[in-house]
Amino acid sequence: MQGDTGKGRSPFYPGQPVPVEFFAGRRDQIERIVRAAGQVRNGKPQALFLVGEYGIGKSSLAAYARRLLEKDCALLGIHVFLGGAKDVADVATKTVEATIKARVYQPTVSEKIRNFLAKYVGQPEVFGVSIDFERLRADGPGLSRGFLPFLRELLARVREDGPAGILLILDEINGISANPEFAHFIKTVVDENATGDEPVPLLLMLCGTEERRRDLIGHHPPVERIFDVVDIAPMTEPEMVGFYTKAFESVGMAVLPDAMKRLCHYAAGFPRVMHTIGDEVFWADRDSVVDLPDATAGVIGAAREIGRKFVDAQVYQALMSKDYRSILEKLGRAQFDIAFKKADIEQGLTPTEQGKFDNFLQRMKRLQVLRSGDAKGEYVFCSRIVRLYIVLNSLPPSSPEDEPPVVSDRAS
Ligand SMILES: Nc1ncnc2c1ncn2[C@@H]1O[C@H](COP(=O)(O)OP(=O)(O)O)[C@@H](O)[C@H]1O
Ligand SMILES: [Mg+2]
Repeated sequence: MQGDTGKGRSPFYPGQPVPVEFFAGRRDQIERIVRAAGQVRNGKPQALFLVGEYGIGKSSLAAYARRLLEKDCALLGIHVFLGGAKDVADVATKTVEATIKARVYQPTVSEKIRNFLAKYVGQPEVFGVSIDFERLRADGPGLSRGFLPFLRELLARVREDGPAGILLILDEINGISANPEFAHFIKTVVDENATGDEPVPLLLMLCGTEERRRDLIGHHPPVERIFDVVDIAPMTEPEMVGFYTKAFESVGMAVLPDAMKRLCHYAAGFPRVMHTIGDEVFWADRDSVVDLPDATAGVIGAAREIGRKFVDAQVYQALMSKDYRSILEKLGRAQFDIAFKKADIEQGLTPTEQGKFDNFLQRMKRLQVLRSGDAKGEYVFCSRIVRLYIVLNSLPPSSPEDEPPVVSDRAS
């Protein structure tokens, strides 16, 4: 796609934490994090849980907070991605790995960290450092038992160079939260630190969905009390406008007001979707002015992109039956925005389809494509872009005239 289009680099990062310069909004949440950091600096350890659904911006906020707190609050930030971690030994080794690889402002701090953990540093590489994983893994269980002393020692080593505390971000806890050990581990670290003579100035930050937080509490109820929950909700329209304006401006592109409205309407506050749409618009536009057709092309492109990745894999695969598919198609052709009445759709179904409609709706809810609306018998699409994809899939294969050329390949 990128090829030789004469375009520079896209300022959009679908699926990656957003770079600090394009980070938008989240002022309330940042304020709460900064407040917690202030407490930590005054000697009172804090624990925050950034809660929000997939793609809402947890990792991005954590990464942004890390940079901010490093600069303004003198905290040493370590961002640990726990995807793939199975037990607490993995949590410890991944923390050590992230510590060694942490990109810290002051080079002297990086150097001291590497000296402290020299035993796990492998061969020098041109960019960054390599890790002696064999050795690290062998020490995993011991490291997990001595987790707090590890953090204490780490801070002691770098303190004279500035850091007055540690921000430890444990991100992507999906897998590990299923292991009951993890909840106990977290609780123990926090308790040990609170009751010790001299607590480590630690801001512990977990990132996960509400379901995962519930998992942890299910495994060990006291976990609920140690965390302050920071909710991450869909972005507001001004937040989205702020983001798009800045991102497009950075590559010399302007967005016309009606086009901006369309982008925001379909992104509907979901940062992940916002970036996918932005990226599609970036590549579709030819004259550095984003007008309505550009916006439409971007929205349709994004619907296909997200549809292929998410809807095809989860929804169409899960709904293999012919009747389900035909219901889905009728749902795609029905005229509504994102909310519909069950009874309205039911009218257009065959008797066999009607018999399966309840089941269909339940499954779509479980797949988090639909949720119940406020009115009785009302259902709402969780994502407008997913709704659009289903609409696009229900169109006859020949490309309708009014579709912009960018999607003329839809039948192939
Ligand atoms: N505050 C923000 N400003 C701009 N883009 C954001 C913001 N938060 C998230 N994003 C973007 O949204 C997408 C999902 O963000 P991410 O932080 O990975 O979400 P999560 O960790 O909740 O799954 C990424 O493409 C990221 O670049
Ligand atoms: Mg994330």
